[in-house]
Amino acid sequence: MKRREFLGSVAGGAVAGSAGLVRTAETAAAETPAGGSLMTTPAVHMAPRADGLELVWGVSRLACGWVEWKAEDGSNGKAHEDAFGFVPQGDRIVRVRIEGLKTGVNYQIRAVSESGDGAKAREESPWRPFRVLDAKAATTKFAVWNDTHQNEETIKKLHAATPQGDFLLWNGDICNNWDKEDWLAPTLLNPAGQDVSTGRPMFVVWGNHDVRGKWAFKMPELVATPNGRPFYAFRSGPVAFICLHTGEDKPDNHPSFGGRVAFELLRQEQAEWLKKVVELPEFRDAPFRVVFCHIPLRWKNEEIADYAIGGYDHYSRLSREAWHNTLVAWKAQIVISGHTHQTAWIPGTTEFPYGQLVGGGPKPQAATFIEGVADVSGLKFVMKDLEGKVIQDVSFKPIA
Ligand SMILES: [Fe+2]
Repeated sequence: MKRREFLGSVAGGAVAGSAGLVRTAETAAAETPAGGSLMTTPAVHMAPRADGLELVWGVSRLACGWVEWKAEDGSNGKAHEDAFGFVPQGDRIVRVRIEGLKTGVNYQIRAVSESGDGAKAREESPWRPFRVLDAKAATTKFAVWNDTHQNEETIKKLHAATPQGDFLLWNGDICNNWDKEDWLAPTLLNPAGQDVSTGRPMFVVWGNHDVRGKWAFKMPELVATPNGRPFYAFRSGPVAFICLHTGEDKPDNHPSFGGRVAFELLRQEQAEWLKKVVELPEFRDAPFRVVFCHIPLRWKNEEIADYAIGGYDHYSRLSREAWHNTLVAWKAQIVISGHTHQTAWIPGTTEFPYGQLVGGGPKPQAATFIEGVADVSGLKFVMKDLEGKVIQDVSFKPIA
């Protein structure tokens, strides 16, 4: 009988999580598509770049791992060393960074693991397609999820409904609270038993629930980003994307955080980083400019919350104060967020030139996904519910 654990109430009460089932490492190992005893999750394609990506997968015991690739022109290669000269290895997670791939090439990629305990077990993941991000491509196509909160029914339906593309961006609140360490691998790498990064390499943006719980500090061990930080920027075709970490929805000293968070410093660091990124040519000159962050930077009702009586931020006032001027100077067109569990579209104004698009909540009736597509003439977002009904669509012309 599979072990299931029900969530309790969400401490701190910012946004009520779904009362979904929580996958444990044990549950996931029994159901994983990999099906093996050594690799416990699919080899997840994360953080695609212009020259490669990173693969991350779970292992049941001490293991070495590497990644093999083959291209349509017959070339092939292997990524099998880490930054310190080791073959990548781990006793829970193996990560392999692949470099040197080329734009415009269709690759097939697989991960291989061998046990590091002398038992000589070896397992291979299936070959999966991959293309690097291409800043010079005429078009790009991508999808956005948010606030899945470990709701298995929602994740399965999102996985089935979401088309493949250049990337899938998971815009925070992947979990409820990280109360147990063995929730990390199945929740992030094999959610609801699905191989979510197949044909759509994954970016992760941190949500406020992803930083809660005593094991939250471990999440960076399982999540690759292009630069190893929770804020990063990338270009895909005519669109420049900036991903930011809005932190928690209450001040750092709120008692519910137990002294574990320091987001006021991280917001300031991002403010300084942002000023430099928007001056780089591929961001400064991009025809379209998009920001992802979990907590919205604008909301319908911007009253300041009373944190002493259970209030929390529906929009991240502290983040906006730190980043707004740079985002306006950059001519950011849209900020895409989650957090509120209710969909919203707040068009740009004179004071806030960037529009604010907000996706839905964790329950299947409230869940949404956003498809984005751009070419030289326009950038279009369509937000749909799990039945495929269009909730919102928004279009932009290129910045002159
Ligand atoms: Fe949420």
